[in-house]
Amino acid sequence: MGVQEPVNATAAYSGRGLVFEPPEAFRKRAFISSMEQYRELYERSIKDPEGFWREQAQRITWFEPFHTVKNTSFDPSNLYIRWFEGGKLNAAYNCIDRHLEKRADQVAFYWEPDNPDEEGKAITYRQLYEEVCRLANVLKKHGVKKGDRVTIYLPMIPEAIYAMLACARIGAIHSVVFAGFSPDSLADRILDGEATYLITADEGLRAGRRVPLKRNADQALERCPDVKTVLVVRRTGGDINWVEGRDRWYHEEIQTVSAECPPEVMDAEDPLFFLYTSGSTGKPKGVVHTTGGYLVYASLTHQFVFDYHEGDIYWCAADIGWITGHSYIVYGPLANGVTEVLFEGTPTYPDPSRIWQVVDKYQVNILYTSPTAIRALMREGDEWVKKTSRKSLRLLGTVGEPINPEAWLWYYRVVGEERCPIVDTWWQTETGGIMITPLPGATPLKPGSATLPFFGVQPAIVDNDGNILEGTADGMLVILDSWPGQMRTVYRAHDRFVQTYFTRFPGKYFTGDGARRDEDGYYWIVGRVDDVINVSGHRLGTAEIESALVLHEAVAEAAVVGYPHEIKGQGIYAFVTLKAGYAASDQLRQELIQHVRKVLGPIFTIDLLQFTPALPKTRSGKIMRRILRKIAANEYQDLGDTSTLADPSVVEELVQNRLNR
Ligand code: PRX
Repeated sequence: MGVQEPVNATAAYSGRGLVFEPPEAFRKRAFISSMEQYRELYERSIKDPEGFWREQAQRITWFEPFHTVKNTSFDPSNLYIRWFEGGKLNAAYNCIDRHLEKRADQVAFYWEPDNPDEEGKAITYRQLYEEVCRLANVLKKHGVKKGDRVTIYLPMIPEAIYAMLACARIGAIHSVVFAGFSPDSLADRILDGEATYLITADEGLRAGRRVPLKRNADQALERCPDVKTVLVVRRTGGDINWVEGRDRWYHEEIQTVSAECPPEVMDAEDPLFFLYTSGSTGKPKGVVHTTGGYLVYASLTHQFVFDYHEGDIYWCAADIGWITGHSYIVYGPLANGVTEVLFEGTPTYPDPSRIWQVVDKYQVNILYTSPTAIRALMREGDEWVKKTSRKSLRLLGTVGEPINPEAWLWYYRVVGEERCPIVDTWWQTETGGIMITPLPGATPLKPGSATLPFFGVQPAIVDNDGNILEGTADGMLVILDSWPGQMRTVYRAHDRFVQTYFTRFPGKYFTGDGARRDEDGYYWIVGRVDDVINVSGHRLGTAEIESALVLHEAVAEAAVVGYPHEIKGQGIYAFVTLKAGYAASDQLRQELIQHVRKVLGPIFTIDLLQFTPALPKTRSGKIMRRILRKIAANEYQDLGDTSTLADPSVVEELVQNRLNR
């Protein structure tokens, strides 16, 4: 950390680093306004989960009440996770219909386009209702029924929200695929999810560039014969290919149906959606979330973590293609009846002031973004921030990766002018909602720490053998008992669910993250301990990148690891051996980088690619990734035990030609 002294009245130097108390003005109106209050409620949530969650579940409108609050077991030989059994509800009804009486004319979201000169939109809850009902009727007209899967491949436009909620309304299960994924990645997800319906757009717009979504979709669908209907939103009006009988224009279809569509009555445990995420092995997993528990959890965490009050303007600058968009753009906030911002563009386009201009334009009070965005903006210099007002901001949040104290302090001082608490929220696609986080009116903040568990969450740190470590500790992060927002299974692969999360430490949910707990009980997330890397807050499986590399005719073998990257948190470092007859060259390096982007999508851009005659392997032929990680991090002096290497000279060669210096 660069700065160590106290900077204002709210920051005290504890001898262990900076601690920031909640500003008094913030504390006064906060729902949870003292640590005593937090502790009392937390204790209760752990001692009496049934009572606690029965009460919290009342924030949702149930068509029929549940009879059992919690029915869960983390025993890998008999694993089940069920919440609010017997309860009947509809997620779209909760996000829209129940608000109509009070807030039909309130803006649900402002849509801010990529280009600041293009006119945005303000969508009220009544309009949201009509748009969602129309689209739900279009889906029904094309035969989509409860339980059917619909893939959504859309940019950040209002129709993305309509599409998710239209599925929820009729009980179809949505599977959103991030618009930055390639045709192949899209096809894999459609096939795995057995989707029969696709919603996409002609093109997306990001930072002034066009993203050929329809073209990607056409290519993906060559492999997906079961998709019989494609609904296409016209975003740019660009030229696209058209398949008669299969493709339909969104704007034409919604004219043919009514603006009323009764919500399907769903069971609490009926799937609401699945969303693919990368693990250490194999293909991405379809993480399944169900209706009741997920909605209760998303809405409760949204209200308490962001201290959301009626009338606040809220902006989560994530993409709906990730879990953050699902839980904190769509389901949590809309269930709470917010007014929010939906932003199509990027924080630095057309210039690095854009994000703050949007804050001023809509008078945003609560901003939730990623450490990568903060680091990128910090690099551009303070002037871009300071030339805007930002007076409306009351609370700042981050998610997706560890935030380094320098970036935290910059966000706190320059952006929030020491007036806004920062909630550093730790969670995962699998957890459905925020798990470890400050409560902004109560928790003293330490830059870089996600602080303490949310209500009902029991984190623990274990050693390699699964022993729970008490007090200050360094090890692996597990969760000891279920919470309502937890994923229920991997789509069509329940064994994989049990295997991935519950067998390494039987009886506990294993997060895949390493963590430290300090003398105040605060959690510091260190990062993944498996072969998952986190690039700009995007979770990428090294196995996927390796598989893509070896698809190229020149590649014999590939090993991919993450390395520390100043802006992106982690960068992608690939070690590649070539087949006989191919020679290493800059041209081939570029070709391989482009090849991986094409196979997986542009977020998979390899930063450093080192050709090598051989990879370091054990005598049994296992690649020693530990060594590769060290070399990639430029920590080659300290490679640890290399005695099990089959051929130690390989390492010397790798070190000599390392690329990160
Ligand atoms: O390693 C942790 C990191 O992101 C992983 C989860 O990624 P994903 O499922 O894509 O969800 C991201 C958005 C919730 C975690 O295993 N991570 C997420 N939030 C934080 C974090 N690491 C440190 N601090 C955080 N606040």
